[in-house]
Amino acid sequence: MTTKELYTKGARIWVEHPVKVWEGATVTSDYRSGVLIVQLDDNKEIRQIKIPDEGRMPPLRNPSLLIGQNDLTSLSYLHEPAVLHNLKVRFCDRNAIYTYCGIVLVAINPYYDLPIYGDETIMAYRGQSMGDLDPHIFAVSEEAYTKLERERRDQSIIVSGESGAGKTVSAKYAMRYFAAVGGNASETQVERKVLASSPIMEAIGNAKTTRNDNSSRFGKFIEIHFDNQYRISGASMRTYLLEKSRVVYQSAGERNYHIFYQLCAGAATEKMPELQLDHQDTFHYLNQGGSPEIDGVDDYKTFRETKNALSTLGVTESEQRSMFTVLAAILHLGNVELTSDPDEMQLDNQDGAYIRPNDKHLSIVCSLLGVSKPELSRWLTHRRIASAHEVIVSRMDVQRAVFARDALAKRMYGKLFAWLVQAVNRALDTGNAKKHFIGVLDIYGFETFEINSFEQFCINYANEKLQQQFNSHVFKLEQDEYIKEEISWKMIDFYDNQPCIDLIEDRLGVLALLDEECRVPQGSDMGFVSKLHDKCSNYPHFLKPRFGSAAFIIKHFADIVEYQCGGFLEKNRDTVLEEQLECIKSATNCRLIHSMFAESPSDHSATLPPPSRRRTTPSVPLASLTQPPRRTSTQKQTVGAQFRQSLSALMATLSATTPHYVRCIKPNDTKQAFQFDAARAVNQLRACGVLETIRISAAGFPSRWLYQDFFYRYRLLCRFKEIDRGDIKKTCSSILQRYLKEPDKYQFGTTKIFFRAGQVAYLEKVRADLQRAYCVRVQSCVRGFLARRRYTCIMRAIRGIQAYARGHIGRTKAQEIRRERAAIKIQKHIRGWLARKRYRKLRHLAIGLQARARGYLARKHYKEKRYLQATITIQRYARGYLARMRVRRMRRQIIVAQASIRRFLARRQYKRLRIEARSIDHVKTLNKGLENKIISLQQRLEHAQDKAKAIEPLQAQIVELRSKLEYLKQVEIEARSLKVDIQDKDNFLIFLKEELAKEKENNKRLAEEKSQIEMRYKKEKEAKEAENEKLANELKSNKEHFELLIEVLDTYVYNINRVMKQA
Ligand SMILES: Nc1ncnc2c1ncn2[C@@H]1O[C@H](COP(=O)(O)OP(=O)(O)OP(=O)(O)O)[C@@H](O)[C@H]1O
Ligand SMILES: [Mg+2]
Repeated sequence: MTTKELYTKGARIWVEHPVKVWEGATVTSDYRSGVLIVQLDDNKEIRQIKIPDEGRMPPLRNPSLLIGQNDLTSLSYLHEPAVLHNLKVRFCDRNAIYTYCGIVLVAINPYYDLPIYGDETIMAYRGQSMGDLDPHIFAVSEEAYTKLERERRDQSIIVSGESGAGKTVSAKYAMRYFAAVGGNASETQVERKVLASSPIMEAIGNAKTTRNDNSSRFGKFIEIHFDNQYRISGASMRTYLLEKSRVVYQSAGERNYHIFYQLCAGAATEKMPELQLDHQDTFHYLNQGGSPEIDGVDDYKTFRETKNALSTLGVTESEQRSMFTVLAAILHLGNVELTSDPDEMQLDNQDGAYIRPNDKHLSIVCSLLGVSKPELSRWLTHRRIASAHEVIVSRMDVQRAVFARDALAKRMYGKLFAWLVQAVNRALDTGNAKKHFIGVLDIYGFETFEINSFEQFCINYANEKLQQQFNSHVFKLEQDEYIKEEISWKMIDFYDNQPCIDLIEDRLGVLALLDEECRVPQGSDMGFVSKLHDKCSNYPHFLKPRFGSAAFIIKHFADIVEYQCGGFLEKNRDTVLEEQLECIKSATNCRLIHSMFAESPSDHSATLPPPSRRRTTPSVPLASLTQPPRRTSTQKQTVGAQFRQSLSALMATLSATTPHYVRCIKPNDTKQAFQFDAARAVNQLRACGVLETIRISAAGFPSRWLYQDFFYRYRLLCRFKEIDRGDIKKTCSSILQRYLKEPDKYQFGTTKIFFRAGQVAYLEKVRADLQRAYCVRVQSCVRGFLARRRYTCIMRAIRGIQAYARGHIGRTKAQEIRRERAAIKIQKHIRGWLARKRYRKLRHLAIGLQARARGYLARKHYKEKRYLQATITIQRYARGYLARMRVRRMRRQIIVAQASIRRFLARRQYKRLRIEARSIDHVKTLNKGLENKIISLQQRLEHAQDKAKAIEPLQAQIVELRSKLEYLKQVEIEARSLKVDIQDKDNFLIFLKEELAKEKENNKRLAEEKSQIEMRYKKEKEAKEAENEKLANELKSNKEHFELLIEVLDTYVYNINRVMKQA
């Protein structure tokens, strides 16, 4: 498809990358012979790509519009990088884990619980066809269910992928879908039982591995049966390839089957002392991996779930007990110590295997199962060799004894597994009508490890068969149809597995040679390989390894795988010592053992080989152990033969159904959510045939239509006159010629037209566009008519509405005007009334204020006047007082002056009187004057007393005034004036009182003065009298003296006069 013209500047291409597998690049200059110059998108590095073959140019990138398509086959460029990129974009950017690739659903494990599995999602997918909704496991399940209903043909869903890719989860969701949509209304609730089978099978067939914490160590095909009404009527299950070696050996980081750990947890909690189970780490069969825990899993809880599921499926309590007894016996058997050291025992063969007589675990095994301890102990260490003439019992060496013990444990577990599968099948077989079935196959995908052994051979053989079936369904049948339809097409070169299957299945193929070698008494793994190298070298799919001769190579469809032959024979034989088996079968305490070992026809199909240490550990070279013991079950079919048979049965079943494919992809090995490791993914896509599907889809004619169907669907693509109902083919041809210009894009078969990828989608688009155009035209006419009718209707209505509205508006307006006027009038009156009211209020206020102010001013004026009056009165009194004081002072001064004058006069008089006194008459006259004075003083005293008496009526007047004052106090308006009066009066009264007090004081003083004067008078009188006497005496002396003096004086006067006269 890609031509060199497309590699021009700017073209986007894919170039190979060692880690990312493919990386994007852009062509920087047009392609010129043999060299393409590109720039890498990531690091912008310029790279020169040499093109040795122009037919193999680097793949072109799809336009970004197409990225994220939910069907890989709808991509424009269909190749590995486009597929990988599309898946990556959907997975990482859109978290879309499901993508279609034609009829295949690619499911990438998200390692994250997405909310896309609820009942509402189931209901959303119910009734929808595959392309309608996003790709989903429910869509595939719905397709299968619908086809079952529509075509009445059995269906199958084949889920494959490598370990941890999500096969079991997908199968469970598919079963859940069928249980939901095909739920039986009857009481049996088969769907509940179908779902309950999962936890049981997971408990006994799943284990923790380094790749998956819940890895299914067996393949299973569940058939869900439906009745006439397409309701679930029952189910059945077939299992393949149980990995029995896990029972006795686990690699580091891995575990034995979940049921053992669940049982240990359950025994510890649920009290099952009879099993004598201890902690899981004490059992050799459980502790070799050194990783007994699983994150987020509670073994006891899952034990309860397993028990509940067993009960749901009708496994009785006693059967469950027996089951647990067998499991416990296996665990104890693993702990039976086989030693080369005979201790103190005196035994013949010192190199042989021994079991101590007091071995606790052997005793427990014997007591649990009810087998003879010496018997079991003997056959665990001895074996019987039958020769032509005799039978010899010989002690085994330790390695052989351990191997035999482990083989016994594996056989017991295998039988228990098969018995449980039978029990589940019994429970799921309701006896109802089984009209149809949908099978769900959950089986290992193609495996290739560093060291590949018998298990990988079987798995890859199974995958070859499945791939063949896939091929025949997807490609071969398709191309057969081209031939049947007689269209001219180029044979698409697709991978046919048949030669590879022939290599395995032929009469001289790998399986036959292996069986033959197993039958040869001295057969060995090396012998088997050399036979292979001899007989199979002419098969194109067989190769000899370059180095070593212990391996052989098969070219499988997905890869070239080298198988190491070590252990092939032993695993193919799956032998157990017959004596050991007989001994176990003789168990008396455990009836389940008999049921388990009872030969049944289904025995061969159920479980398969005892794979040895898989993957990383090399197979133990068991050449010495592979000698077939003569007394073993030689008649028994080999594992390879059984497997081949069961596989053929499966293929026959699948061939009779319509298959649906789910390819699970593990995006990374670290279990990171939404992490996409392109290299890992591309290997898986290659291995599961997705890329092959893409290749063929791109090359072939994936879409086809019956002429009739095409005509009815696409007849509208041609004009009416071109339609010829008599020759539909011609009409179809004219349609296609018009729209698909390239004749290579389609082919006319006898009954169908074949289209290359994308052509039908194109025609659909043209049809849809045309339909849309026609619809638009019809719609436009109808809409125009409707619109016009509506318009006139609306116009009429509008006019009516307008008239009414205008009338209404006019009325409203008039009413408004009226209302406005009335409002103005009311406002006018109210405003007038308010103004008047305010004016009155103001006036009242002003008058009140004026009255108050005037009152205040008048009172103030009156007060001032009263103050003035009072002041004048005070001044009056003060002035009076001052005047009196002045008068008094002046009087005193006058008196003093008078006294001085009088003193002077008195002195003068005294002198005169002295002169006179010299006469007694004068003294007598003087005394008489004193008496007069006393009398006058007495008169003055009386006068003062009279004055005091006159004051008494004034006091009465004060009392009266006081009462008057009381009265006046009550009269408030007059009170103030009266108060002032009273005050005045009071003041006056006080003044009077003071005056009175003063007068009294005066009187008192006068009285005192009087008494003093009297006293003085008395004293003076006495003194005067004494003085008189003395004076009289003196007078006498003085008289003489005076006479002398007079004489002197006369002389002196005479002298003065003379002097004066002289002067
Ligand atoms: N659709 C899914 N959504 C979420 N988680 C998933 C989904 N599918 C798978 N897983 C996760 O991946 C784990 C492994 O899935 P599963 O057991 O189905 O793998 P498997 O293919 O059956 O592996 P094996 O071959 O070992 O049995 C699951 O336990 C679950 O955690
Ligand atoms: Mg699984």
